[in-house]
Amino acid sequence: MGEPGEAKGRLIIVDDEPVVLDLLASMFDGSPYDVVACANGTEATAAMDRGVDVLLTDKNLPDIGGIELVRYARRIQADAECLIITGYASLDTALQAMELEVFDYIVKPPKDIFDVRRKVQQAFQKQWMVRQNRSLTDRIVTKNRELENTLAKLTELQAELIQSEKLAGIGTLAAGIAHEISSPLFGIMGLAEAIGEEDDLSLVRGYAKDIVEYTRSIRDIVQDLSGYSRAAEREYLTTVDLAKVVEDAVRLVQRTLKVERAVLRVEVEDGLWLQARTSEVQQVFVNLVKNAVEAVTETHPHGGGEVRVTARKVDGVLHATVQDNGPGIAKDQQALIFDPFYTTKAPGRGTGLGLNIVYRIVTKYRGTISVESALGAGAVFNLRFAAGDDRPADAPSSPE
Ligand SMILES: Nc1ncnc2c1ncn2[C@@H]1O[C@H](COP(=O)(O)OP(=O)(O)OP(=O)(O)O)[C@@H](O)[C@H]1O
Ligand SMILES: [Mg+2]
Repeated sequence: MGEPGEAKGRLIIVDDEPVVLDLLASMFDGSPYDVVACANGTEATAAMDRGVDVLLTDKNLPDIGGIELVRYARRIQADAECLIITGYASLDTALQAMELEVFDYIVKPPKDIFDVRRKVQQAFQKQWMVRQNRSLTDRIVTKNRELENTLAKLTELQAELIQSEKLAGIGTLAAGIAHEISSPLFGIMGLAEAIGEEDDLSLVRGYAKDIVEYTRSIRDIVQDLSGYSRAAEREYLTTVDLAKVVEDAVRLVQRTLKVERAVLRVEVEDGLWLQARTSEVQQVFVNLVKNAVEAVTETHPHGGGEVRVTARKVDGVLHATVQDNGPGIAKDQQALIFDPFYTTKAPGRGTGLGLNIVYRIVTKYRGTISVESALGAGAVFNLRFAAGDDRPADAPSSPE
């Protein structure tokens, strides 16, 4: 091999002139190679049968010629390097040597010992580099194969992850649905109790009407869930009247939270239309208003809490805000509030899903939601949606 620390390189020297053979062999006394001196081609082939790395051979031998020995060496060891010793560097010899990719020539009689030694050493070095390259290539091929396997495993794992994320998403949604249904259920319960104690028939009728409305919203929510399980299908969109939805949402919160001590103001322009699903837009405002009411109840338990909902159209974009004068949200918490299950409320008081549902719905309609707040300074939730082109055909039209 010719490099320190590696197996000894095997150098076969062949010459039929004993003096020259002795001279050549002596040049490698003390060299790092395993040197074998052969007086003819037959000896050389026998020596090469036991291994050859570099062959240094006379071209003209009585039994087997040097060129033939080069071929033999290559059969034994495909990357064997060969050097030819010739009496004169004829064109014929040069061509043959080139054809066989002989490493170099040495002209006889070899006068410069150092030149011969250097050429042999270079042959060993070239061979070492070729072998290094080959082993590197082999390692790269193996590594590549390993990487391909890893990639295949990763792709498989990713598919599993996507699947479990989808399942987790359905789990989150199911919990959210339970959360959403619990509000109207709570309202129905309160109204049913009120009906039991109410003698005024007109009030009872009003309560009954509200119960029907709550039941409808539960039905809508259930329909949403079945809609989600068919997520791949194209959803049915309607033109939503924002003013009405906000009004419904605020009313729902007022009923379920008993917000006598907070002032709720709604400033929503008429004629704001949005391509969406009514129950989803309602969910957005129910959650935001519910949070706002819960927030102001915390800081103003005896009154003074204010919640303001606004909506208007600016340059074809719907801007809606839900503002409160509650405790506000610290800057570092603002990035977390839209995460599922993030809540600062006591166990049993909040699931931490409200804002996550809001975020999902808003982004689903390519809208944006952001919060402006500072501790002690209340909070403003800003929503933006692309406005629907126009009032729907089935909306009540003004007299012409
Ligand atoms: N208007 C607000 N003012 C102050 N903090 C708020 C406001 N809205 C949300 N937060 C904070 O964000 C958290 C997450 O709100 P989110 O609506 O997602 O869950 P939650 O209200 O805690 O529980 P729920 O699932 O019942 O809605 C709240 O716990 C609260 O700390
Ligand atoms: Mg909430």
